[in-house]
Amino acid sequence: PPLSEILNLHDFEAIARLVMHERTWAYYSSAADDEISTRENHAAYHRVWFRPRVLRDVSTVDWSTTILGQPSSMPVYISATALGKLAHPDGELNLTRAAGNHGVIQMVPTMASFTFDEIVDAAKPGQAQFLQLYVNRDRNITKKLVQHAEKRGVKGLFVTVDTPQLGRRERDMRMRFANQEPTEAPQNTPQDRERVQKAANVVNSFIDPALNWNDIPWLQSITKMPIVLKGVQSWADAFEAYDRGLAGVVLSNHGGRQLEFARSGLEMLVEVTQHFKQKRGITFPNDKFQLFVDGGVRRATDVIKAVALGATAVGLGRPFLYASAYGQPGVERAMQILHDEFEMNMRLLGARTIKDLVPELVDASSIHAH
Ligand code: FNR
Repeated sequence: PPLSEILNLHDFEAIARLVMHERTWAYYSSAADDEISTRENHAAYHRVWFRPRVLRDVSTVDWSTTILGQPSSMPVYISATALGKLAHPDGELNLTRAAGNHGVIQMVPTMASFTFDEIVDAAKPGQAQFLQLYVNRDRNITKKLVQHAEKRGVKGLFVTVDTPQLGRRERDMRMRFANQEPTEAPQNTPQDRERVQKAANVVNSFIDPALNWNDIPWLQSITKMPIVLKGVQSWADAFEAYDRGLAGVVLSNHGGRQLEFARSGLEMLVEVTQHFKQKRGITFPNDKFQLFVDGGVRRATDVIKAVALGATAVGLGRPFLYASAYGQPGVERAMQILHDEFEMNMRLLGARTIKDLVPELVDASSIHAH
């Protein structure tokens, strides 16, 4: 269907399933074990309801914000997803260019299908980008990448901490056993798919499972970029990150692809903010330490819920990959859809700016923090 008939981000997923090579679909959509955490990522948002305010002048609404000090047109960023080329020949570059046109920040993956420089070169002058980092066993490789990224103007470092090894994604494994040869899809060459197979092995040999808290001072010593831990899942680790002077954490279960039965980011957010408030007297959002959430976010209402509960911004992974099947225009359409959903829902909620999104606007009482 033409892009004009795509009404929401779920539509992109339905179409991606039809048009993408089945091995690409399996790699993108699959998750750990029985995929319970992935389902929970969506379900958690369904447990939070709105408590709108009325009779506020909402003739103009504005959902622009800043993320790690960088302006963003919405409290949404593109989370890192490996191997973007499987969706489209221009892969990650579609995301970069669409992000540039819409004032959205892209988190560039360590395991991108284009080189880091190709992706940075595709950005507009002044366009903010972040780097997602898998810390290599060979710390020199990591040091070079980080310092090169900083030199190229990257504005934040998201260190993935939930992947000491890859989770077990059985739908993806089955596809590889089937070993089907491609029929059409020129953007999806046998070499591209081979990269997927290799990627799993590469990731496992590349990422250092020995990474631990004692490596954090080293990371802080090699860069001035703000450092955020991606994949924190408990208030205790969030406290640890805070105490070590990090810039924030992404509360995430990696799209359900790592530890099965990991809770959803939204659930963790409620827990983390409650503990910070009760034990430290710290509330969110604040400029010193930022909370991010990802996993299962498909609607502006999901984003609004997370922001109302204290998140600075929310990451989306799969939706932009699926939209990328349409190339850059698809990714731009996805951003436009979110933008339009924001405008309407902010109005209906009686919120004019991001600052108006406070916890009182949602009922999160079905989420129990421990
Ligand atoms: C990911 N994600 C991810 N995260 C990361 O830190 N490094 C990576 O290389 C990847 N690669 C990756 C590939 C694919 C195909 C997916 C779907 C996800 C996780 C990603 O950054 C994010 O946490 C989730 O995608 C968020 O969930 P949703 O938005 O996909 O539901």
